[in-house]
Amino acid sequence: MDTNKKIPVILDGDPGHDDAIAWVLAKACNEFDIKAITTVAGNQTLDKVTYNARRIAALLKIDIEVARGRKVPLLSDLIIAPNFHGESGLDGPELPEPNHEESELSAVEMMAKVLKESKEKVIIVATGPLSNVAALLLSHPELKEKIEIISIMGGGLRNGNWTPAAEFNILVDPEAAYTVFHSGLPLQMSSLDVTEKALVYPEEFDIIRNLNNPVAKVVAEWFDFFFIHVKSLGHKGATLHDPCAIMSLIHPEIFTIKDYYVDVELSGNYTRGTTVADYLGRTGNKPNCKCVVGLNRDKFVQLLIDACKQYEGWKI
Ligand code: RIB
Ligand code: CA
Repeated sequence: MDTNKKIPVILDGDPGHDDAIAWVLAKACNEFDIKAITTVAGNQTLDKVTYNARRIAALLKIDIEVARGRKVPLLSDLIIAPNFHGESGLDGPELPEPNHEESELSAVEMMAKVLKESKEKVIIVATGPLSNVAALLLSHPELKEKIEIISIMGGGLRNGNWTPAAEFNILVDPEAAYTVFHSGLPLQMSSLDVTEKALVYPEEFDIIRNLNNPVAKVVAEWFDFFFIHVKSLGHKGATLHDPCAIMSLIHPEIFTIKDYYVDVELSGNYTRGTTVADYLGRTGNKPNCKCVVGLNRDKFVQLLIDACKQYEGWKI
């Protein structure tokens, strides 16, 4: 990635502890110029994730108005994940109250505005269900040429995490995911294949906590809460899903990335929402997605710690 100039980026998510940490990374790195934050129902209801997004923006001093998106998936009923993220969707540390009003624009209107006004192509980082991104592509096909890449946290080539076959973000809105994977746009998918290896251990929560800056303290406490349920599932560390969608853009060298044709299963009692990658090359389809399937965990965690150090002296 050209580090000489900042690349415009839209952050679309359902914060959510790991969305929040992904946005801490996005703000801390030099590569990105955050042009918009848009919210989508997923980890919690749209009201809750939007309030959370506005508080995260206040914490990180991202001076923009959050734009709320879809309250429900394109066709499915909403699934939420309070078991992972709590009743608020971001349980754990106290956060500042929002310091900006919510945008009067919807997420799709905000995304379209950013794409229209940007001189450069824009990166979209989607860390929740793909409802907003799909709605954007369906309502503004003429703006597809302004999108550099869509970096997604979602999917699983070998397993799911909400059903045995489907990962949460894809399962919440499979039709939206199908629309994105059939858009013809450059895609990068940080699936469970990498994010379940992106483990941060409790002793590393403490390294971040001891950085002794207010944002690092909040990040450590987000880990504390998020790990409660993840540990009960048998993981030895916090599976840091969403930050992979950011980190794999700015530091692809620490990841294993394969080009595969990926499609989304829409039907099937047990398979709806599955991302199916043609890693055997049997479908005759050209690859449509850069699949992030592995990482150097130690380097990943060090980069996360380094990002948290950027908030030295931060006042909230
Ligand atoms: O399956 C993990 C994904 O679902 C992450 O984006 C997490 O925030 C939840 O939305
Ligand atoms: Ca998320």
